[in-house]
Amino acid sequence: MSENENTPQTSTENTPADAAAPGGTSRPAEGPTPEELAARGDSRSQRPTNAAFRAFIGSGWDDTVPPPERREVADFTPARRDALVRAVPATRLVLPAGVLKARSNDTDYPFRPDTAYAYYSGLGTDEEPDSVLVVEPSADDPARAEATYFFRPRAGFDSTEFYADATYGELWVGRRPTLEETATRIGIPTRHIDELRDALAKDVGDQLSLVAMPGVDASVEALVAEIRDQNGLPGGDGATREADRFAEVASEQRLVKDGFEVAQMREAVAATIRGFEDVVRHLPEAVAHERGERVIEGTFNAVARREGNAVGYETIAASGHHAGTLHWIRNDGPVREQDLVLIDAGVEIDSLYTADITRTLPVSGRFSTAQRRVYDAVLAASDAAFAAARPGALFRDVHAAAMEVIAATLEELGLLPGTAAESLAPEGQFHRRWMVHGTSHHLGMDVHDCAKARREMYLDAELVPGMVFTIEPGLYFQATDTLVPEEVRGIAVRIEDDVLVTADGVENLSRALPRTAEDVEAWMASLR
Ligand code: GLY
Ligand code: MN
Ligand code: MN
Repeated sequence: MSENENTPQTSTENTPADAAAPGGTSRPAEGPTPEELAARGDSRSQRPTNAAFRAFIGSGWDDTVPPPERREVADFTPARRDALVRAVPATRLVLPAGVLKARSNDTDYPFRPDTAYAYYSGLGTDEEPDSVLVVEPSADDPARAEATYFFRPRAGFDSTEFYADATYGELWVGRRPTLEETATRIGIPTRHIDELRDALAKDVGDQLSLVAMPGVDASVEALVAEIRDQNGLPGGDGATREADRFAEVASEQRLVKDGFEVAQMREAVAATIRGFEDVVRHLPEAVAHERGERVIEGTFNAVARREGNAVGYETIAASGHHAGTLHWIRNDGPVREQDLVLIDAGVEIDSLYTADITRTLPVSGRFSTAQRRVYDAVLAASDAAFAAARPGALFRDVHAAAMEVIAATLEELGLLPGTAAESLAPEGQFHRRWMVHGTSHHLGMDVHDCAKARREMYLDAELVPGMVFTIEPGLYFQATDTLVPEEVRGIAVRIEDDVLVTADGVENLSRALPRTAEDVEAWMASLR
């Protein structure tokens, strides 16, 4: 809905467009002034602003709502914030939620807050554009964190915001929380966003630095830069280094999930599996539609919206040779009985944790011999990766185990220019022609979680209990690949599971979704 539909058309007096007539503004020889240009966004406004109307629309509302409840996550975020101030000491750390992003002129994309902000605040879903979490060492004990959450609480019924502000107004975006309600829910003291500037500047200097999470909210970063400058803190490279270190720490602290996060991952995976089940039920409809891939995407995404916040990333519904395009998200192709369809999809639940699962399914319900051959090779690579994944192994070992199987398969097919062993050597790597992506990535609130972690904390790090990552080998034989036998051209398979490192191995969180060819066939038959 646009901002100006459905408002009572009783008056046009004092509309912003009228008010903005620029008295005395210097006007270029031709064309509108900047003020005139700015006012054009309101050029359709017919909203009444007279006093009688304002009094009328502000009265007669029932304001009883259920009392707010403290969220379970509020028991976990204090330890996260303590770890943060210990890793980035003597610093006031500023975590913006982010800003609304325009889809086109006055219509925005749904809001999804920044991951670090959500992790340290316990907020999720669409909470809250333009808000800011501030974390700093406690004055009494620098190993403990103090936090304050700044946001724009709801305005009263007597405000113009209530009915006239399409970004914040209650009649536009629904009832917004009060300071007290949010404080109760997340267990963090709250203040009005208008108090942010003074709060950020207080005591900043030699003993206390001030840093904003980079890349989230340019206006907050500019405010922090200004306050740093006014208080003698370095700008330029010095400031960038501090901000990058903050981002690195925030990424690395999420490498090992706490108990709340593991439970959320289980929920995200369970919802995702229900999405895959619905997709299988809708495969006949997909086959019947000329854009069957969209039927699959729409089916999965409906489950994601029904059961969660959204999809955790754009759904890949790739039928036939489209499966060879790793990030096929156009999803506008047909789904044919004789093809495989690769579905890579994840439900992001309201806490923002997402699954990331791929299954490659025979549309007919039965694999052909050639499809089965490729599928079994990928499954063997996955099994090898699972076997290598345990505490003490390196993250990179999981990929290496999968690659040994992939290289051996390709050697058997006669595709490698040499032996599998030669291909596996750093100067070879020819097998990667048919699987150019990695086998694993950390998973959590971001599908590619912890992406700013240092190499020694990620790829070269030992696995420890509580880590969650994917195992997702694949083999992709493009339809245009003249090196591969004709019978497998256009066949691409990926099998992707989400695993939790335990005390002695890994738990496959997505094990309820069948992996072997036989189990996939039986499961599909049971759903049809
Ligand atoms: N869906 C993206 C990935 O598997 O990494
Ligand atoms: Mn995936
Ligand atoms: Mn993945």
